[in-house]
Amino acid sequence: MNKERKLIIAGNWKMNKTVAEALDLVRGLKIELANVKEVDIVVCPPFTTLSDVSEAILDSNIRLGAQNMSEHNVGAYTGEIAAVMLKEFSVRYVILGHSERRQYQKESDELISRKAQAVHGASLKPIVCVGETLAEREGGQTEAVLERQLRGSLAGSSKDQMAETILAYEPVWAIGTGKTADAGQAQEAHAFIRGVLGKMFDETVARRVRIQYGGSVKPSNARELMSQPDVDGALVGGASLETRSFADIIKNSI
Ligand code: PGA
Repeated sequence: MNKERKLIIAGNWKMNKTVAEALDLVRGLKIELANVKEVDIVVCPPFTTLSDVSEAILDSNIRLGAQNMSEHNVGAYTGEIAAVMLKEFSVRYVILGHSERRQYQKESDELISRKAQAVHGASLKPIVCVGETLAEREGGQTEAVLERQLRGSLAGSSKDQMAETILAYEPVWAIGTGKTADAGQAQEAHAFIRGVLGKMFDETVARRVRIQYGGSVKPSNARELMSQPDVDGALVGGASLETRSFADIIKNSI
């Protein structure tokens, strides 16, 4: 597939996998994906498995991401994880503002923007998630919601920082539901997001930033989604938990 921007496909394992299970998965991926050069491959395991996974993927083409990070660098923040701790395990990417954290941990755009600054401050790359709920889509609010989330979550980000930022469009109604945005809906939202980036920053930023699609991505729909001009990768939940399906998503996207 000939793309303007290199595809980046990340597996978000969420709260799944013990160390033994994580190692099983990642060792399988290492073998299956050893020859893939066309796609940036990222896995985002739970914190408790980062150390072992990090070691297992040394000398491979698989990069490590975390699912969240504190906006603080150090101190009395019970249960939180700081950038410097992630860097010990060669983490390169951090998912921020996933809809599950927006929903269950009540994360706001403002908090996400502060976390993004902490991520950049540590020379890591944020994967900033945005997306509308079903009620918002049905109410004709999709574009307003996306623009509000982008302006809020990227507030304070410079053009240079945007060069290190990945975005993920994840319609909430498509996450873990088996319902995927069809390729046309995904393309439309991605093009809109790129337009907002153009207004917030400039055309260069808008053209360079990679925008992943997330929400029930599977081996069977990956190719069509990735073939859309403004879809530059995927953030995969459920289907990233097995070697076969995650490897097939990547192979089918090439
Ligand atoms: P899903 O999750 O692939 O299981 O729908 C996507 C995500 O939440 O990133």
